[in-house]
Amino acid sequence: MSLIETRGLRRDFPVPKRTMFDRARFQTALHPTDLSIEAGESIGLIGESGSGKSTLVRLLLGLDRPTAGSISIDGKAVDATGSARALHWLRRQTGLVFQDPYASLDPRMSAGQIIAEPLWALGIEGDRRARVREVLTQVGLDSEMADRYPHEFSGGQRQRVAIARAIVHRPRILVGDEPMSALDVTVRAQVLELFEKLLTTQDLTLIIVSHDIGMVQNLCDTVAVMKDGHIVERGTTKDVLRHPQQDYTKQLLAAIPVIPGAVRGGEAST
Ligand SMILES: Nc1ncnc2c1ncn2[C@@H]1O[C@H](COP(=O)(O)OP(=O)(O)O)[C@@H](O)[C@H]1O
Ligand SMILES: [Mg+2]
Repeated sequence: MSLIETRGLRRDFPVPKRTMFDRARFQTALHPTDLSIEAGESIGLIGESGSGKSTLVRLLLGLDRPTAGSISIDGKAVDATGSARALHWLRRQTGLVFQDPYASLDPRMSAGQIIAEPLWALGIEGDRRARVREVLTQVGLDSEMADRYPHEFSGGQRQRVAIARAIVHRPRILVGDEPMSALDVTVRAQVLELFEKLLTTQDLTLIIVSHDIGMVQNLCDTVAVMKDGHIVERGTTKDVLRHPQQDYTKQLLAAIPVIPGAVRGGEAST
């Protein structure tokens, strides 16, 4: 049994009417999708803008409800009921790092308050201050920085705060939806290193949405390629990046050279 399994997972969105006489129309952002992700797997989701990557991860995180289909985590169906209890359970299993650390951190809250928020929201007891300090050091920040406010941090430090917030409740699944696209190149390497460190030191399953093939190459065991709401290709990172089967994947990769020898997810499984 896989850690995450979706069956026929689908999401339709209403298309805005142009005139009041228009019939209600829907656009399928995610066509029925069966996806299995193993515990400990690190999977990269790639595909052009609008292909359904965020829709898929939002469903997996319980931030959005599917039109049809099911998700199970560890064999437990999470949205058959859609109950508050099921959603609470799902939130405990997952952590999300947003794209833009400037937009996602509340400027009125200290880093410590921001990081501790999931502990309060999820009703996790214990020494919250100590946990915040611990997690700050895990992401490479000084534990004293808990008292600082977002404007006192650089872009890279803010993204570290966002990552600390995403892991503070010890989720089993960490999701990054384009977590580096708002960062400049020099900072990206450091944040990438942090993700690598977390992968090796924590018991995490990682789902990364990224346009940055280098990030996928360094971080992900497997890759799923999305196009128009479908997963069109899925395999080990090595196979997908070196020997893409679909023309779409070839086009997607054509602009970005794959660095030889630096690909994960190949050697061990071939
Ligand atoms: N809340 C929404 N309401 C209406 N349409 C949406 C909504 N979210 C996403 N979509 C549409 O679903 C499709 C997939 O979007 P998205 O999952 O955000 O793609 P990606 O993350 O790959 O760029 C797009 O056509 C987008 O316009
Ligand atoms: Mg997106």
